[in-house]
Amino acid sequence: MDQQAILLLGYLIGSITFIVGLKMLSHPDSARRGNLVAAVGMIIAIFVTIFLYRDHNGNALGNYGWIFGGLIVGTLAGTLIAKRVQMTAMPEMVSLFNGMGGACAMLISIVEHHHNPDAAIGMKVVIVLGMIIGTVSFTGSMIAWGKLAGKIKDRAIPAGQIINFLLFGGLIVSAVMVIGGYNDTPALFYTILALAATYGILFVMPIGGADMPVVISLLNSFTGVAAAFGGFLYDNPVMLTGGILVGSAGTILTILMCNAMNRSLKNVLIGSFGGGAKGGTAAGDKEQGAYKEISLNDTAVLMAYAQKVMIIPGYGLAVAQAQHACHELEKVLAEKDVEVLYGIHPVAGRMPGHMNVLLAEADVPYEKLLEMEDANDQMSTTNVVMVIGANDVVNPAALDDPGSPIYGMPILEVEKAEHVIVNKRSMKPGYAGIENELFFRPKTSMLFGDAKKVLQDLVSELKQM
Ligand code: TAP
Repeated sequence: MDQQAILLLGYLIGSITFIVGLKMLSHPDSARRGNLVAAVGMIIAIFVTIFLYRDHNGNALGNYGWIFGGLIVGTLAGTLIAKRVQMTAMPEMVSLFNGMGGACAMLISIVEHHHNPDAAIGMKVVIVLGMIIGTVSFTGSMIAWGKLAGKIKDRAIPAGQIINFLLFGGLIVSAVMVIGGYNDTPALFYTILALAATYGILFVMPIGGADMPVVISLLNSFTGVAAAFGGFLYDNPVMLTGGILVGSAGTILTILMCNAMNRSLKNVLIGSFGGGAKGGTAAGDKEQGAYKEISLNDTAVLMAYAQKVMIIPGYGLAVAQAQHACHELEKVLAEKDVEVLYGIHPVAGRMPGHMNVLLAEADVPYEKLLEMEDANDQMSTTNVVMVIGANDVVNPAALDDPGSPIYGMPILEVEKAEHVIVNKRSMKPGYAGIENELFFRPKTSMLFGDAKKVLQDLVSELKQM
């Protein structure tokens, strides 16, 4: 087999492993292996490119010092960051890595523009569009990362939409000038770079910090598209496949997240909730009745004598790192012949699959995790629902208050169960910044405290019974 054939075979294996790996990522049981399969494919694709790729003049890549230097630095940095990251900081890390992908696409376009001053129009389209999209993704992701890390505050930009509109217009005009050869000077090319960088910053800056997961997913799809342009540029099928997969997966994820929150993408981008109370029944706006509290001991008794308990985990469980304590509770209850299930809302937490990953980390068996529809089906036969650090995803306003910003969002209908116990630290609102009437309803009892501490105490209480 000649070198070219081995190269193509390597690309084919790489492409197939990306697709198979992505498919395996869609189920928690196979997700780890899926990640590994795609990573092996990526390693094959990288090494066949480094050693077997030849340009039109038959020259090998060369520059091996730079290439392996970069590979070593990147591998070490990536491994260290990924090993150290907390689950709750995962969106931050994804944003940072996504920004690096955008930056790569941007640099590829800059280098190729420099190398090919007389490129054909098709190639120029690919270079310029790849640079614009990659740059927007790079600067936008950096702002998203800064917001999630608490380094950048949400800031409305005066006349922001008009400025963005003008920037966008400027980008189109300059791109046409460069691509059409009317003014293909380095000065105009770098003006496009500056406009795209500014656009990325101003586009993300005003969006509420808590809406960042949706924005990151959108920017992720941009990076995929920019990488796919790189694949065209280098006639590299595996880069093209990878870029298209990232682009389409990012787009689908963005749509799924918006649907699960019952919000349009436009509403997220020029937003009406997220990061604070900006609409509907803001916390404290409305007089609420009294809520009742329950003691640890009474909670333990209620649970020990139940037949079926449903745990509803939310963002607070992740913040408190209470997943192991939660699994302990499940085991103690199982010893008392209580059936324990988990009701998982699609946007519980702050990123897709947040609760599934968190509970898997604590070895909670996957069959115990019910998707929202299945959990709702089981609610009427459940004796005790325990809501742990969740708020918006159990807010009945989504069903019965047309004025609420979350009206229409499907929720876990916990009130269909016999008793509802809500664990959180205070009466403060959750992500959407709105009051939750569930806490004041007759079936509900509040069990205040940090989720981890409360669960640990509850486990000791149950063990003594
Ligand atoms: P939230 O509505 O944010 O509520 C979390 C609750 O946890 C808070 O009310 C907080 O109350 C409590 N909490 C915080 N720290 C705690 C601790 N240490 N111990 C016990 N409780 C604690 O969370 P949710 O119900 O999971 O809903 C998720 C929200 O995020 C939804 O509005 C969703 O639309 C949004 N969102 C999700 C995603 C994805 S993909 N998951 C993406 C974007 C947006 P206290 O402060 O009183 O303790």
